[in-house]
Amino acid sequence: LIGLQTEWLGKEILALDSTPSTQKEAHRLAQEPFKEGTIVIAEEQTAGRGRMTRAWHSPKYTGIWMSVLLRPSLPPYKAPQFTLITAVAIVEAIMEVTGLQPEIKWPNDILLNGKKITGILTELQADADQIHSIIIGIGINVNQKEFPDELKEIATSLAIEKGEAVSRSQLVQEILKKLEGYYEEYMKEGFANIKKCWEKYALSIGKKITARTVTGTLHGKALGITEEGVLKLLDEEGTIHDIYSADIEIDKK
Ligand code: BTN
Repeated sequence: LIGLQTEWLGKEILALDSTPSTQKEAHRLAQEPFKEGTIVIAEEQTAGRGRMTRAWHSPKYTGIWMSVLLRPSLPPYKAPQFTLITAVAIVEAIMEVTGLQPEIKWPNDILLNGKKITGILTELQADADQIHSIIIGIGINVNQKEFPDELKEIATSLAIEKGEAVSRSQLVQEILKKLEGYYEEYMKEGFANIKKCWEKYALSIGKKITARTVTGTLHGKALGITEEGVLKLLDEEGTIHDIYSADIEIDKK
């Protein structure tokens, strides 16, 4: 990538024309010794994956489909923080490159005007007390002019929202620059400042939400996130729940 202004992130790049999934490629790379900050990026994914075994629509030349490989020496319970760090980096990069103001929906969605613009999928290779590699999959809808019928109501692109095409390479450069900066800050100073930035961009905090988890549905007020990226929900009976993984929806008044 010409003009990349990072020290180490994205200096090693596997750039593919078409691949089933950059996430799958990254998992393969992570089996071998890899350089910290290696990225896999593709023009098209034929079997892009989202959270909870969902498919991720990744048509050719229109989006950013990439996976970032990191090797922080941390315990695996810290991994959800990487989703939040990445979300902050992406929101700020989008603001800078397009002037648009996206919002974060916990844990991993970035929205514009209520529709999804970005998904983040953080996966690990780890044992009980040590991360071996962390693979952050990033999907950003950049220049799609339209979406298939089943996605129309829930997804949008930067170009649709801005009314003109957006430079994918400029956006990738900005994301990698921000992500490198936040990652270094996080490793040196911890999560506190990044958590504050995240809460500034998160639209669900302080609102009434419905959270669908694998074990059931919860209703209540989203209080905030913990240091570990766990969502705190206060239900009608006054009980506070820790939510590790769920789909959330902001309740309509
Ligand atoms: C989600 O919102 O469910 C997460 C979507 C993550 C999509 C990205 S695109 C690049 C990387 N490769 C994949 O197959 N998935 C992630």
